[in-house]
Amino acid sequence: MIPVNEPLIREKELEYITECIKTGWISSQGRFIEEFEEKFSKYIGTKHGVAVSNGTVALQLALRALNLEPGSEIIIPTFTIISCALACIYNNLKPVLVDSEPDTWNMDVSQIEGKITPKTKAIMPVHIYGHPVDMDAVVKIAKKYDLYIVEDAAEVHGAEYRSQNSEVRGQKAGGERIEWRKAGSFGDISCFSFYANKIITTGEGGMVLTNDDKLADRLKRLRNLAFLQKKRFYHKELGFNFRMTNLQAAIGVAQMERIDEHVQIKRRNAKLYTQLLTDTPYLQLPTEKPWAKNVYWMYGIVVDESTGYDGEQFTKSLAEKGITTRPFFYPIHLQPVFKDMGLYEGESYPVAERIARQGLYLPSGLTLTEEQIEKVAIVVKTIMSERKCL
Ligand SMILES: Cc1ncc(COP(=O)(O)O)c(C=O)c1O
Repeated sequence: MIPVNEPLIREKELEYITECIKTGWISSQGRFIEEFEEKFSKYIGTKHGVAVSNGTVALQLALRALNLEPGSEIIIPTFTIISCALACIYNNLKPVLVDSEPDTWNMDVSQIEGKITPKTKAIMPVHIYGHPVDMDAVVKIAKKYDLYIVEDAAEVHGAEYRSQNSEVRGQKAGGERIEWRKAGSFGDISCFSFYANKIITTGEGGMVLTNDDKLADRLKRLRNLAFLQKKRFYHKELGFNFRMTNLQAAIGVAQMERIDEHVQIKRRNAKLYTQLLTDTPYLQLPTEKPWAKNVYWMYGIVVDESTGYDGEQFTKSLAEKGITTRPFFYPIHLQPVFKDMGLYEGESYPVAERIARQGLYLPSGLTLTEEQIEKVAIVVKTIMSERKCL
């Protein structure tokens, strides 16, 4: 079988993990935690990084740190992982949905303003499958309505966005203007995941990034059961144990040494897929807007309905030929768990519904060989040529 994903783990990871085990620093204290936080936040371009146990709790912690009034509304895309909605609901906040753009599969930023009410307090742009959201548009709306931006950058380590907005562009320490900025550097807070299928991994893991000193302190406190520094075992608020272990961070530090290479591998593999699959009728491939650097975390395809296939059937046909793939996200507004809670009744988001039904992603791991990509492309084309109807 060609796996849908496989992490790229080498000797350095083993060396650093061994150090943790030999020295006994296996919980959430030890040299690798801060080193990982510093290296990763510097790479993305934010002042602080707060390492946590996974990307889902990163989102939950980020929203908790903002201390929003219960019942406040957060605008998120319907086409995303459930983690985004869970982070809202566990904080007594309401996830309000927008549809997707048909080409980037990201949230349709032109629909955000229409969803703003007096209760809206934040926008959560989710950069889907490696392509950044149009952040100038999001920042403009957030400024106009005084909303927080909580970026879900779980899938886009290394992706970049070219801002046209001089306020957004930012500056390097020497005063030089920065035009291209990394996804995850735009939000008041941004969140990453380091699950095994991510561009860099710590096994399970996540990080919350911010430029705000006070927020960073609060995130660190809340991550650690809300212990007070001066008086231990004395608590003024409800915290969590969302700590990352030194073992996880050790893997993260080793992975950081190769992050640029990992991004290059993703982009190189995507380029090859695109070369081989371009011009396949009835097949939509990932895009890269002129203002975006896509890191192609997963190489998604959308099969046209007129072929008689949907994403799930296509996935099965590929599996029969030894190729593991995954269907696209199932939209939030159609999740049975939210229906049972009485949410999103009568709401429809046609683009998200279509891409969720017709989309899947091809093997996209960092260990994929050219031969494997070529095989996948041949099989995809063959299945497409045998499509049931036109
Ligand atoms: C967009 C997005 N947000 C959040 C998460 C949650 O991350 P984790 O699996 O580390 O909890 C994921 C996981 O893949 C994701 O794709």
